[in-house]
Amino acid sequence: MAKITVDGQSFEVDPKLTIIQAARDNGIEIPHFCWHPALSVAGNCRMCLVEVEKTPKLAIACSTQVSDGMVVQTASSRVLEARRAVMEFLLINHPLDCPICDEAGECKLQDYAYAHSIGSSRFEEDKVHKPKRVALSSLIMLDTERCIMCSRCVRFCDEIAKKPQLTFTQRGDHVELTTFPGEELDNPYSHECDRHLSGRSPHKPRVSVQGKGVGDVGDGDCVSRLCEGMQHEHVGAEQ
Ligand code: SF4
Ligand code: FES
Repeated sequence: MAKITVDGQSFEVDPKLTIIQAARDNGIEIPHFCWHPALSVAGNCRMCLVEVEKTPKLAIACSTQVSDGMVVQTASSRVLEARRAVMEFLLINHPLDCPICDEAGECKLQDYAYAHSIGSSRFEEDKVHKPKRVALSSLIMLDTERCIMCSRCVRFCDEIAKKPQLTFTQRGDHVELTTFPGEELDNPYSHECDRHLSGRSPHKPRVSVQGKGVGDVGDGDCVSRLCEGMQHEHVGAEQ
């Protein structure tokens, strides 16, 4: 076991755990977008930055393994400033769609914007606009502008559904989520996306991914809740 201290509280934890897992197991939630306990680590959102004693740079908690004697701060002034900067970066091109978004009120991006951003934007240039209605299948419509490129859905298709169907194209702030050429998002779990569909979706029952043996993902982090910052619509209901 490794003894670590997080925000002044000491715990004995499995040395194979990462900081985010060890903290969560002991009741300390570190903000995150791209990390999910049932998926591989991508480390691309940088929302989970924490301060580790004797480490000059901030570290991402989702991919930094604990070690004996490690001292971690999850809410120091450096961490809070970095978190605000990450939120500012994520929101630069994000549309101000909350008033018309079905996910409003149940959106982690919105929650984190309240909790961790400065509440206003310094960005005066034009936002990058992306396609608002991309049909990923006959059931799922993607609003590309609302995607924060966390890649959870991409990894879900690869690792849980075992059907690689989603990918990113373009570079930088023009990156877009899309299906592979000729592919539809039609894997057996894609109905799980009803979490993000409009209320018109008929696919109310959801498959428990825990029941499929991918491990306990914990309350509030059901693997079907992949996308935190955008919403899909039910194309079928509209046609
Ligand atoms: S669609 Fe949602 S889950 Fe997929 S990459 Fe974008 S924000 Fe993440
Ligand atoms: S949760 Fe760690 S980088 Fe995204």
